[in-house]
Amino acid sequence: MNTPSSKALINQKQKISSWRIFSLSVATVFFLTILWVIGSFKQDPFITETLSIQGEALSGSKLFKINCAGCHGISAQGLVGPDLQEATKELNDKKIINQVIRGLTPPMPSFEIDTKSMADLLAYMHTLN
Ligand code: HEC
Repeated sequence: MNTPSSKALINQKQKISSWRIFSLSVATVFFLTILWVIGSFKQDPFITETLSIQGEALSGSKLFKINCAGCHGISAQGLVGPDLQEATKELNDKKIINQVIRGLTPPMPSFEIDTKSMADLLAYMHTLN
């Protein structure tokens, strides 16, 4: 049945369904944006806890020599990995913690580290500049 009136009806239906798809997409994008905004305000509990601990540089220095010096040099002067003596000036603590625990930039591995050791490492790195 292809009478003009049934064609008009089909067109009308198509218009409604594309409008529906459009508004569903807008709603989805809106919803995802809200989730993303909430997610970026909520800080990682590991980072929050690490930042609340007063680290000890001496213990951090030992951890550094065992875990990091192989790539970053015995006094963090740089070797395979970059010089870290100015790292705390260029990167905030949150970024440094992420670098250590997430393995975002291979070949640097991610480390399974507890919050106290992480705070010690940070304290040590702050003594370097
Ligand atoms: C297997 C070698 C290796 C080990 C072990 C290693 N790193 Fe790295 N690290 C790297 C490399 C390579 C980079 C540069 C990655 C890139 O950005 O391409 C890097 C980057 C970094 C950066 C970012 C520097 C910047 O200026 O962006 C920090 C901070 C860092 N490492 C800290 C550490 C700490 C702390 C440890 C010990 C817990 C450690 N690394 C252990 C190889 C290593």
